[in-house]
Parts: sequence; structure tokens; C-alpha cells
Amino acid sequence: MTIKSQTVQYGNIKNLATYVASLLDCNDVDIPKYSAQDFSTFDHLHSRGRAATRELSEFLSVHPGSNLLDIGCGIGGPARFIAERFVCHVHGIDLTEEYCKTAELLNRLCGLDKRIKITHGNALSLPYDNQSFDTVWTQHTSMNIADKNKFYSEIHRVLKPGGMFLFHDIFSSESIHSKEEREILLPVPWASKPEHNHLVQGEIIRDILGDLGFHREIWSDITAETHLWFHNYNTNIVPTASDQKPLAKELGPELFIGEDFKLRAQNLKQNLADKKLTVIQGVFRKE
Ligand SMILES: C[S@@+](CC[C@H](N)C(=O)[O-])C[C@H]1O[C@@H](n2cnc3c(N)ncnc32)[C@H](O)[C@@H]1O
Repeated sequence: MTIKSQTVQYGNIKNLATYVASLLDCNDVDIPKYSAQDFSTFDHLHSRGRAATRELSEFLSVHPGSNLLDIGCGIGGPARFIAERFVCHVHGIDLTEEYCKTAELLNRLCGLDKRIKITHGNALSLPYDNQSFDTVWTQHTSMNIADKNKFYSEIHRVLKPGGMFLFHDIFSSESIHSKEEREILLPVPWASKPEHNHLVQGEIIRDILGDLGFHREIWSDITAETHLWFHNYNTNIVPTASDQKPLAKELGPELFIGEDFKLRAQNLKQNLADKKLTVIQGVFRKE
């Protein structure tokens, strides 16, 4: 299968993994010098960062030995968080090849590469057999995907019966009805141009999931918390390891999302203030 390397412009990603390696201690990778948490100021590429991953993980019921798929895994922050906390097998898949390479590098550096397998691939054509996973997880990826039916039917296909699907995503606000009003300020962290932005209203997703045979367990609106977080968000945060050792200052959102990250974050905050967006945590069970 030929993979189109990028559908979206995620930062200046050429040779990203090599560059990230040059910023970290990669000598003798068999002795982990980092923990997953050491990367947490920069490796959760979604609103509210690691806190949002931790919150969604509270709904997980995984155990050592079960397996979870993270779709649109980015550079692997959520996958590492889950693999470390739940001692389970995590598969991550992402369309952006340099993100996959960077995820693999960071997994190795904190000794989680045996528990996490990263695949360069497309959410719309998942390279897994039917009913392969106990759990499917996705954060801030559906906004880049136009074909929602295919996206969610692939998730349904690879989940085992009774398996859980968890997501943390941004949708168009359900209180807005006209197409013009739904238009948002761009660029935002997931899209620089209208053709990268595929927001829909949550009710469309609930209908698709219901038609596929998912049972809704949780639909939690976390828009207010997200807005508050952006309000207090410090875009100049210094990356720091858990032992307070500072990491290279280049390891920040500008590197992974784009040089114009501050503008993107500002626009996202404004779109939230204008009540154009809702941020949802969802948990569904395959019947
Ligand atoms: C905003 S980032 C979120 C990354 C990660 N989920 C996280 O929260 O840290 C969106 C990710 O979706 C990936 N993506 C976009 N379209 C995709 C597709 N069709 N298949 C797989 N990944 C895709 C992008 O490459 C990017 O890594």
C-alpha cells in the first residue's frame, strides 16, 4: 500500500526524528534515561495536554495483557502514558511518517518500545484484522478526517465485541445551525487551511456510532475546562524532565505543530470564546 505521507501540515516535520534525537541523550538506548513523563510537556499534541489524556484514561478498563489501538497517535505521548500506567500492549498508527519515527525514538528512550508498536498508516484503511483490539482510543484526529463514516466503521471493524472506543475530540458547536456561522478562525493547531479542517457537529458522530452498533456510555462536554486551559496557557513553557532537569527548549509545540503555534492556539481560544466549538470526551461500547 502506498501511504500519502501527510494530509495536514504538522510543523516543520522534515527529519523531525533525527532532530529530536539530537536534542536528547541517545547514548546507549538500552539503559532508559527518561521516563514517559519526562516528555509530557511536549508529546501530548492536543488541548489540555497530559491532563486530558489522564482524564480520558480514567474510563479505561484495560489490564496487563489486553491491547489498545491509538489512532492518529502523533509522537506517542498518549500511547506511552497508557502503556506505562496500565502495563498493556499499545499499538499506535499515524499518517505522518516523521511523527511515527519520533514516537519510536521516544518509546525506545524510555524503555517502552517492547510494549508499544507504532505503524505508519491511514486510519481510513487500518492494517489490522477484524476484531483485533480490546480498546480503540483517539484524541484530536477526527478533525483532520473528512470521511467520518469510514473512520468510525474502521474503528468498529477492528474492535472486539464488547470492546470500548474512547475519544477526546473537538466538534462544531451543536447550537450553531448555519454553515457561515460554523466557519472558524484559521489557522488552528490541526489545520492551517479550510481543506484540512473537517469539524462536524457531535450529533452526526452520535448517529454514525449508533448506526454502527455502538452503545453510548459517556458523552462529556469539557469545553469550559478547555477554554479555561487556553486562557491560562503559557506558550513559553520550558520543557522539564520529572527530576526538574530542563530539556532542550526546542522541544515545544512550535517544533511539533508549527512555527505559528502561538497564533494557532490563540485562534483556537477565540473559536472557543465565540462558542463555535465543543470539546467532548466520549466512551462507546461495541455491542
Ligand atoms: C493533533 S494530532 C494528535 C496526535 C495524538 N493523538 C495526540 O493527541 O498527541 C493529529 C494526528 O492525526 C494524524 N492523522 C491525521 N489524519 C490521519 C489519518 N487519516 N490516519 C492516521 N493518522 C492521521 C496526524 O498525523 C497527527 O499526528
